[in-house]
Amino acid sequence: MADLDNFKIAKNYHLDVPFEMGNFHVKGSAHLDWGMKKRLSNLFDPKSGNTVMFAFDHGYFMGSVSGLERLDILIPQLLDSVDVLMGTRGALRTSVAPACGKSIALRTTSGSSMLNDDLSHEIIAVDIQDAVRMNADCMAVQTFIGADGQLSSLDNLSRTINEGLRYSIPTMGVIAVGKQLERTDRFFKLATRIVAELGANLIKTYYCDNFEEIVAACPVPIVVAGGKKLPEQEALTLAYQSIRDGAHGLDMGRNIFQSQYPAQMAAAIRKIVHEKATDKEAYEFYLDAIHAKE
Ligand code: 5RP
Repeated sequence: MADLDNFKIAKNYHLDVPFEMGNFHVKGSAHLDWGMKKRLSNLFDPKSGNTVMFAFDHGYFMGSVSGLERLDILIPQLLDSVDVLMGTRGALRTSVAPACGKSIALRTTSGSSMLNDDLSHEIIAVDIQDAVRMNADCMAVQTFIGADGQLSSLDNLSRTINEGLRYSIPTMGVIAVGKQLERTDRFFKLATRIVAELGANLIKTYYCDNFEEIVAACPVPIVVAGGKKLPEQEALTLAYQSIRDGAHGLDMGRNIFQSQYPAQMAAAIRKIVHEKATDKEAYEFYLDAIHAKE
């Protein structure tokens, strides 16, 4: 173990020097094999380099949450605007058409529920064979750095990455923030870098101050989680700031499915992610779209 005394806080992020992408549009993936690159290209648009993911995996620990009661009704409304569906195998197999034409981020860990105090202990619930059968474009693993379940979650992550490398299925490390932890840039720098160094191919985390430094120090693409429901204009500002500061996409759930107008909200987010719209332009687009609907 390295001597931890006198470790300096990193500060030289070279924000003015772009990451060396090599010959591939997904950060840190230029040296991967064809199958990995094919799936990463299913996730990240080769033109914009970005992705709009729709997260509806909340049921895996929250049960039926407001807005997700009827996936069979909701999901078809969003298909024009999202690139990737992030869900559990139960939700996907029962409620999403296999011919939906979307990439799949398959939630593969579980084991916690809202009824527990400690949500940080999970298991690998979906094995690699089922991820192959589902034709998953990536496997999503929850990580709990700094929490009780850190070791087991990094064990889950590492096992998934090992299997993913065997079958060329990327792994998405999802950064959870434990109850005792704060959403500081210091925490997110630590957590994203640990997860990338363990071999995750993409990372889902939260937006925070100095986000461009987190992006600079993380050698794989970051997608930003939406978090709790915000007013639409604020959620679009969060989306805009994330992309402006270097995120390669959004993986939003509640800010889409708990909006009064989920399809219009997803379309507005798409404008930011793929068409370089500002938050102001995207909000105007959203308002126009809901007026056109009414
Ligand atoms: C749980 C997840 C969820 O997918 C995530 O919370 C995304 O949804 P939201 O935008 O509602 O936060 O990864 O850890």
